[in-house]
Amino acid sequence: MVRVLFIGDIFGQPGRRMVREALPSLLQEYAPDLVLANGENAAAGFGITPPLAEELLGLGIHVLTSGNHVWDKKEILPYLAQHQDSRLLRPANYPPSSPGRGLYVGRTSAGIDYAVLNLQGRVFMPTIDCPFRAADRLLEALPPETKIRIVDIHAEATSEKQALAWYLDGRVAAVIGTHTHVPTADEAVLPQGTAYITDVGMTGPYDSVIGVEKESIIRKFVDQVPCRFEVAKGDVRLAAVLIEVQPVSGRAVSIQRIERRRASA
Ligand SMILES: [Fe+2]
Ligand SMILES: [Fe+2]
Repeated sequence: MVRVLFIGDIFGQPGRRMVREALPSLLQEYAPDLVLANGENAAAGFGITPPLAEELLGLGIHVLTSGNHVWDKKEILPYLAQHQDSRLLRPANYPPSSPGRGLYVGRTSAGIDYAVLNLQGRVFMPTIDCPFRAADRLLEALPPETKIRIVDIHAEATSEKQALAWYLDGRVAAVIGTHTHVPTADEAVLPQGTAYITDVGMTGPYDSVIGVEKESIIRKFVDQVPCRFEVAKGDVRLAAVLIEVQPVSGRAVSIQRIERRRASA
């Protein structure tokens, strides 16, 4: 069985520290063949820089996915443009002229071929290209022997994420939701063998509004005045899922939620 660990949106310094502290024991306990994480919020909640991408990849994460926040730190643009084989992905359905790529094809240390596809939804999100058609196009181009296919659907609307999972059922091993930062309790293996969860949840401070100091967010909603957001500190958790995939068929057999909490900030 191929075991895939997927860690939800790593938010700021608390999230990065949580990954650094918790990953060794997760690797020991679950022995994943492949470790994936969404890194779009790694840099103080907004974007990711080249050193932070390298730091996270150096911890044992094989591929980093991202989302709408991937563009927030300008220094990531040349990094994405110059590293065509980058292990940091941006959603594949951004216009083709945008820097970076949304698909990574690799091989595990045990010699198993895998593909990671990063997509972004369009409901209450930037109006980019269709994620469904992008998935069709990129999955059709993959070699048939690449059986371990993992999709990160970075999207706001549950309906869009569920629809994509049903659309891809039987064509990929997993459709994993990110972006809302709130874990959902709907993990399941769909009838044709695609593991699904609407949202893995955030790896970061939960005493917050989706990672940000709650006082500033409350003021923003009350006053409707733009303000500076600070990364929250309290109740830091790691949110992940472990997916087991049958290597010959590429069908998932299980998906389970994993959570780690730090006692204090
Ligand atoms: Fe996020
Ligand atoms: Fe996002």
